Amino acid sequence: MDYKSLMEQAQAARKKSYSPYSHFCVGAALLCKNGKVYTGCNIENAAYTPTNCAERTAIFKAVSEGERQFEAIAIIGGKENEEGGFCAPCGVCRQVISEFCDNDFKIVLGTVDSFKVYTLGELLPYSFTKSNL
Ligand code: THU
Repeated sequence: MDYKSLMEQAQAARKKSYSPYSHFCVGAALLCKNGKVYTGCNIENAAYTPTNCAERTAIFKAVSEGERQFEAIAIIGGKENEEGGFCAPCGVCRQVISEFCDNDFKIVLGTVDSFKVYTLGELLPYSFTKSNL
C-alpha cells in the first residue's frame, strides 16, 4: 500500500464526514502492519464535546476489530465546500495514536497529489505513554 493510495482512501472517507456544526470535513485512512486499512471521518454532536475526530474513528474501528499493529495514517481535511488538504491531527488524536504506535509511525498529511510524511515522534515529542507508568 503506497501513501498515495492511502491518501485516496482518506479522501473517500472524508465524504462521509458528519460535521453540521463546524462544516469542517476530515477523513483518515489507517494502514495496519498486516496490510488492512480502516477508514474514519469526524462525527460531530449537538453537545459539541462528544465529537470524534476522523483519526480516532479509524483507530477505534481498527482496535475494536482486534488490530493493534499500525504502520501509517493518512489524513485530509478542509471546509465542506472546498477541496481537502493539509490537516494536522489534534493533540488528543496524537495522544491516542501514541497508545498504539511507536515514534516511527508515519503520519501522511496533504492531498492525494501533494503530501508530506511525518513521524509520530516529530509530531508528539516527549510524549507521556505506558512506558512512563
Ligand atoms: N477534526 C478532525 O476530525 N481531525 C483533526 O485532526 C482536527 C479536527 C474535526 C473535529 C471537528 O469535527 C472538526 O474537525 C473541527 O474541529
